[in-house]
Amino acid sequence: MFNCLCVSVFVGLTHALPNFVFVLTDDQDLVLRSLDYMNKTTKLVANEGVTFTNFFVNSPICCPSRSTILTGKYAHNCHVYNNSVEGGCSGPEWQKEHERASVAAILKSKGNYRTFYAGKYLNQYGEKNTGGVKHAPEGYDWWLGLQGNSKYYNYTLSINGTGQFFENEYLTDQITKYALDFLNQKSTIESNFFMMLAPPACHAPFTPAPRHSNLFPDLKTLRTLPFNVTPVHKHWLVQMPPEILPSDVTVLDEIYKNRIRTLQAVDDMVEVIINKLQEVNVLSNTYFILASDNGFHIGQFTQPWDKREPYESDIHVPLLIRGPNISKKVLSEFPVAAVDILPTILDLAKIEKKDSDGQSFKDELFRRESPPFTKNILVEYWGEADSSSIDPQCPWSFDNELSQCVLDAWCKCQDSRNNTYSCLVALSDHSKFKFCVFEGGFIEAYNLVEDPHEMHNLKLQKIEVAHYYSILEQFKHCEGTSCLINYKI
Ligand SMILES: *[C@@H]1O[C@H](CO)[C@@H](O)[C@H](O)[C@H]1NC(C)=O
Ligand SMILES: *[C@@H]1O[C@H](CO)[C@@H](O)[C@H](O)[C@H]1NC(C)=O
Ligand SMILES: *[C@@H]1O[C@H](CO)[C@@H](O)[C@H](O)[C@H]1NC(C)=O
Ligand SMILES: *[C@@H]1O[C@H](CO)[C@@H](O)[C@H](O)[C@H]1NC(C)=O
Ligand SMILES: *[C@@H]1O[C@H](CO)[C@@H](O)[C@H](O)[C@H]1NC(C)=O
Ligand SMILES: *[C@@H]1O[C@H](CO)[C@@H](O)[C@H](O)[C@H]1NC(C)=O
Repeated sequence: MFNCLCVSVFVGLTHALPNFVFVLTDDQDLVLRSLDYMNKTTKLVANEGVTFTNFFVNSPICCPSRSTILTGKYAHNCHVYNNSVEGGCSGPEWQKEHERASVAAILKSKGNYRTFYAGKYLNQYGEKNTGGVKHAPEGYDWWLGLQGNSKYYNYTLSINGTGQFFENEYLTDQITKYALDFLNQKSTIESNFFMMLAPPACHAPFTPAPRHSNLFPDLKTLRTLPFNVTPVHKHWLVQMPPEILPSDVTVLDEIYKNRIRTLQAVDDMVEVIINKLQEVNVLSNTYFILASDNGFHIGQFTQPWDKREPYESDIHVPLLIRGPNISKKVLSEFPVAAVDILPTILDLAKIEKKDSDGQSFKDELFRRESPPFTKNILVEYWGEADSSSIDPQCPWSFDNELSQCVLDAWCKCQDSRNNTYSCLVALSDHSKFKFCVFEGGFIEAYNLVEDPHEMHNLKLQKIEVAHYYSILEQFKHCEGTSCLINYKI
C-alpha cells in the first residue's frame, strides 16, 4: 500500500512538469527576414506565444554555438573553438565531459525525462576520428544523429548507435517521421519528454524538398543596407576585394530563394508536430521552442554568403516560444543569449543547475511587457586560416592567414586568422551598443539604436575603450556565476 502511494505521488509530480520540443535550425537568419516566409510557424508558434526580438548567439558558427546551446556554457568553457576536431568539435574533451552534461542528459538523469534527438548535431559527429556513428551521446533515449555537417540527401544517421544510410529520404522530413514515431509511443506520452529536432535547413547546399522547389520564383535577396557596401572603418577581412558585381547578385538571389524553400519543410515539421502534440493531448503542457544556431549574410558588407562575422545578420537570430501560461502574440525585447537556453529549460523543469554560464529568462516568458532591463552578451569567434580552402585560381597567396576563398564566391575570402574577435553586446530598454575587439587590437563599435546597419564605427575616447575593454576581458574569462554580470552602459 505504501508503494502504491509512492507511485501515484511520483506520477502526479511528473505530470506537473512540462515537456519540451526544441527545433534548432541551421544558419537561419532573422535580419534577412526568413521568418516572414514561415507562415505555419508564425501562426502556430509566434502568434501563440512569445517572439524574442533580441536573441543573440554567443558564437556565429555552428559547432561552438551548438555546443553552447546544448550545455549552457560559453565556447571558451567547453573549449569548442571551431568546426574541426582540433578545435574541440565533438572531440575527446567534449565527449568525456560536456556532452554528458547536456540539457537532455540533465533532464533525463535529474527529471526522469524521456529524451530524443534527431538531425544535425555537431559538424564532426560520427566521423572516424570522433568514434564513428556507434558513439551515441549519453542522455538520449532515442538518438538519431546526423553524421557530419548538414545534408539534405545521401546522408548517414546513427540510429541509436548503428549507422544507416539514406539516399532519397529528404532529411527534414525523415526527422519529422522519427519525431512522430517517438510521440506515438505510449511510454513517451506517459512520461515527461524532451525532443530536439535539428533539421539541416537552411544551411548549404540549400536543397529544397521537391514539393517546395518551385515556390517563390520571384524572390530576391535583400538589397537594403548594408547590402554590397564597404564602410572604410571595418575590419580588414571585410574590406578585402572584390566588390559584388551585378552578375554575381543573381547567384545571391538563388541562394536566398533556396534557403527560404528549404525552410518550408521546417514549417511543415512545426505544423505536423504541433498537430500531433494536440492529438495526443500534451500540447497544453509542452513548451515549443524554435531557434537558430547562428545567422547568415548574403552580400551584406560585400561578404558573399556565410556567417562568422560579428554583425547583426550573423549573430542576431530567431527565437520563438509557445507553451503553458505564455500569452499569445507577445513581442519581447528582453535580450536573450544562446547560453541562457539551458538554464531556462531546466528552470521550467524545476531542476537546479549552478554551473551554467547563462541565466534563466523564465520570468520573461510570462510577461506581456518587459520591465526596464540591462543585459550584457558576450560574442566570441576564432578566425580560421586554412590554405587548403583557398582555390589555387584565386589571387591570394597569404600563407596560413586566410580561409574559404573559392571561385563560387568570386574569390572573396570568408575568413582570416585575424578575424578572431570578441564583442560585448550591451542592451537595455533604451540602448543597444556593440563593442568588438579583433586580434591585433582593431576595434569596431556601434550604436545600434542610431545606426542599426552598423555603418559608422564609433570613434571612442581612450577612457571609454579602456572601460569596455575591461568588461569584455572579464566576460572572455568568466565561468559560471562570474559570467552573470550586467553592467549598465
Ligand atoms: C504567407 O502569408 C502571406 C500573408 O498572409 C501570404 O501573402 C503568402 O502567400 C503566404 N505564403 C505561403 C507560402 O503560403
Ligand atoms: C531507439 O532506442 C529506443 C530505446 O532506447 C527504442 O525505443 C527506439 O525504438 C529506437 N529508435 C529507433 C528509430 O530505432
Ligand atoms: C546521391 O548520391 C549519388 C552519387 O553521388 C547521386 O547519383 C544521387 O543523385 C544522389 N541522390 C540524391 C537524392 O541527391
Ligand atoms: C589582418 O592580417 C592581414 C594579413 O596578415 C594584415 O595585412 C592586416 O593588416 C590584418 N588586419 C588587422 C585589422 O589586424
Ligand atoms: C500556470 O499558471 C497557473 C496559475 O497561475 C499555475 O498554477 C501553474 O503552475 C502554471 N504552470 C506553469 C507550467 O507555469
Ligand atoms: C581550429 O581551432 C584549433 C584550436 O584552436 C586550431 O588549432 C585550428 O587551426 C583551427 N582551425 C582552423 C581551420 O583555423
